[in-house]
Amino acid sequence: MMSNANELAIRGGEPAVKPYPTGRFHFGVEEKAAVDALFDEAIGTGNAIGYNGPQETEFCKEFAEYIGAGYADGVNSGTTAVFVALKALDLPPFSEVVVGCVTDCGGVMPIVMNNCIPIMADTAPDSFAPGPEQIEARITERTSAIVVAHVSGYPADIEGIMAVAKKHGIPVVEDCAQALGARIHGKHVGTFGTIGAFSLMFGKHICTGGQGGAVVCNSQELYWKVRRAADRGKPFGLDGVDTNVLTTLNFNMDEFHAAIGRVQLKKLSAIVAERQQSMAYLATEIFPKLKCVRYVAEKNMPAGSEASFWKAQILFNPEAVTCSRKEYCEALTAEGVPMAEHYLFAFMPKHRWYLERSNAFPWNSPQYLGDRFAEYPCPNAQKMMDECMFLLIQEHTSEETLRQFGEAFLKVDKALAK
Ligand SMILES: Cc1ncc(COP(=O)(O)O)c(C=O)c1O
Repeated sequence: MMSNANELAIRGGEPAVKPYPTGRFHFGVEEKAAVDALFDEAIGTGNAIGYNGPQETEFCKEFAEYIGAGYADGVNSGTTAVFVALKALDLPPFSEVVVGCVTDCGGVMPIVMNNCIPIMADTAPDSFAPGPEQIEARITERTSAIVVAHVSGYPADIEGIMAVAKKHGIPVVEDCAQALGARIHGKHVGTFGTIGAFSLMFGKHICTGGQGGAVVCNSQELYWKVRRAADRGKPFGLDGVDTNVLTTLNFNMDEFHAAIGRVQLKKLSAIVAERQQSMAYLATEIFPKLKCVRYVAEKNMPAGSEASFWKAQILFNPEAVTCSRKEYCEALTAEGVPMAEHYLFAFMPKHRWYLERSNAFPWNSPQYLGDRFAEYPCPNAQKMMDECMFLLIQEHTSEETLRQFGEAFLKVDKALAK
């Protein structure tokens, strides 16, 4: 029988990628042992398993050390990490916070929940992150802060953004939810800005369980503000104060999550390195041979960047292809390559909660002095939303599977190029 290896799998051919384990194998016996130990102690002593305990103290020390930050606080999600970071900055109500328009809503809604107005900045060309120019274009006399996400593990031009922020005297929250382990000239993202926020939910590089997060900063004063913002305004770091001092909620991490997080932190460097090695192979051996896609990793990041590749951005080149991005992606998926056609739900200007803002608080408050009907065009971001697809790269991808991913790209590209 003739082999149909050259026929696309989507047309009945043999898939280029042989079945492989698709699970991320997040947890091992070490995480289980860490949790078991907490239970054993609780059962043996009759004491509770709580929060703000020794596991979290150690987790925060170890997390700060890994990142190279002075201080860290564990919280219960990436969304609450961004909320707590903003709350700790004590922003004036109804002030404006400039934020990149492509991100998770968990990186934007906390601005609104702090009674501030999110102002959408466009992204830099060929990037999901705003650059200094796009941020500066949105700064007004009402701007109180900037939130920048390092989207999909690709460092934004945070040094350029910090220069703009410094010029205007505005603090910066680095939203590193997708970028744990990413660095610029060896320095971790999250340590360039005034304060850094991380997500530690199960889909990210490492997790503390199903959910989790962390906030980092270098100033001790800010650290105490973070602690207060994360725990109902308890007077952490304030001598002689015996009541709560701030209206906020309880965003604490607990001892279970901290114990899991401590084990996961030990795995983080290998997870990031494996993702980087896989992408380095594809970037040198495969992507330059493709006609239908552009791989922009090096070009759309600042010099000295080491992406941590939460997802790999691959730009579709509509002029070079005989089909749509959707069909190209479906062809790759049929070959066995883990692909996402686009960054679903990430374009904030299209979200209903944002589109309906003019009738919602805080936009509709008479205390907001800006134009609540203002439009903030984001053409670069729209182009990225239309043209970028993602390779869902994971750690633990074997060399053989990676080689097969490469073959699948070459096969699909050859069949679908003009
Ligand atoms: C950029 C960004 N910010 C914030 C969040 C919110 O994190 P979490 O899901 O842990 O609340 C996410 C989640 O994906 C994110 O990608």
